[in-house]
Parts: sequence; structure tokens; C-alpha cells
Amino acid sequence: MSGAPARKKVAALISGRGSNMTSLLAAAAAPDYPAEIALVLSNRPDAAGLATAAAKGIETLAIDHRLYTSREDFERAMQAALEARGIEIVCLAGFMRLLTPWFVERWSGRMLNIHPALLPSYKGLHTHERALADGVKIHGCTVHFVAPEMDAGPIIAQAAVAVRDDDTPDTLGARVLAREHEIYPLALRLVAGGHARIVDGRVMGGAPATGDLVNPRRD
Ligand code: GRF
Repeated sequence: MSGAPARKKVAALISGRGSNMTSLLAAAAAPDYPAEIALVLSNRPDAAGLATAAAKGIETLAIDHRLYTSREDFERAMQAALEARGIEIVCLAGFMRLLTPWFVERWSGRMLNIHPALLPSYKGLHTHERALADGVKIHGCTVHFVAPEMDAGPIIAQAAVAVRDDDTPDTLGARVLAREHEIYPLALRLVAGGHARIVDGRVMGGAPATGDLVNPRRD
């Protein structure tokens, strides 16, 4: 359509099954979505998500971190691949490598991550186990801009999930994952469309404007 703003070119970085990446691909299939997934990149050549993306006709690339002597050499290879394709936004989607400040700063305000907890609670791994052990009644997931510290940075979107008495890490994690698949496409839409902006370290125009995502009764 003439006059329509160009869709932002996005790379999804994965390490495994890639279900969040798949939810981004599904959203980006809509003609009015403001981003296209132009590349799916994995640090693990055997990541199942690579085959999923390739089957949908998306360019895939494996850059095996084990072949590089330093973290930064590995990141320079990723950076070159991203620049060569004119990538504008990076979405970490289960990407299991810590990133150096060198890489994070290059993508400041242009790199998103999804985390399976309501940040700033439960940074790191095993979030569902830890939430259950603490007896919290509300758990959830977060999409945020990436800052140099792990699982930190301005929050774009969150969704809450009610914890049930009989939950196991698997049952709770499955309900959180279903919400991840909703809020990641939403957050990318807000960022790529220019609605979500960082102001004084906080995101303005993030998810609350869109309604009832934080509503445990939906579970
Ligand atoms: C998700 O739980 C995500 O929140 C976390 O890693 C997991 C990746 O799952 N960062 P998938 O590869 O997207 O299915």
C-alpha cells in the first residue's frame, strides 16, 4: 500500500524450541503489523526453532558460540550478520547467552527480551520453581528493553498469572508461556510502531494502554 510506513526489520535470537519466536512470526503475518521477522539467528545449530522458522520461509542462521574464543568475537560475528541484513530491532526469544555491554550498547533501545516472571522479581533461571517455593499468588511474564545487567531494563509489557494451590512448575510455566505468546507480539508492535518510548528510564506507551492483560481471572 503506498504511503504505509516501512515495516521494521527484526531479528529473533533463539537457543531452543522457539515458541516465542513462532508467536512473533504469527503476529508479523498480519499485513498491518509494523515489523517483519527478517532473520532467526541461533547460537545453537541444533535449535529446534531454526527448522520451524525455515519451514515458514524465514531466513535462518546458526552462529555457534563454541567456535569463538571470546564472547566478544562471537558477538562481533552476530553483529556483522545483523548489520548485513539491515536489522533494526533485535528480539531475544529464549536466547541463552549472556551478552556483553559492547553488544547491548549497540542495540540500546532497540533490543527486547522476554522473561518468564514479573520483573524485577525472579531474575535468572528456574523462575516458576522459585515463585512456587515462595508461595506467591501472582506470577507472570515481562517484555523489557535489554540493559547490560541480566534481566533488567525498562519494562514494556507484563501479564499476570494466578498461582493455583496445586500448581507444579510445569503447570504454572505452561500458563505463563501462553501469556508470553500474547505479550511479546504486543510489545514488539508497540515498539516497532513507535508507541512505546523510553522516558527517564521508564517506558511510556507500553501495555497498560491496551486493556486487561493484567487480570488473573482470565486464567
Ligand atoms: C521462555 O520461557 C522465555 O520467557 C525464556 O526462555 C523461554 C524460551 O522459550 N526467556 P521458547 O524458546 O520461546 O519456546
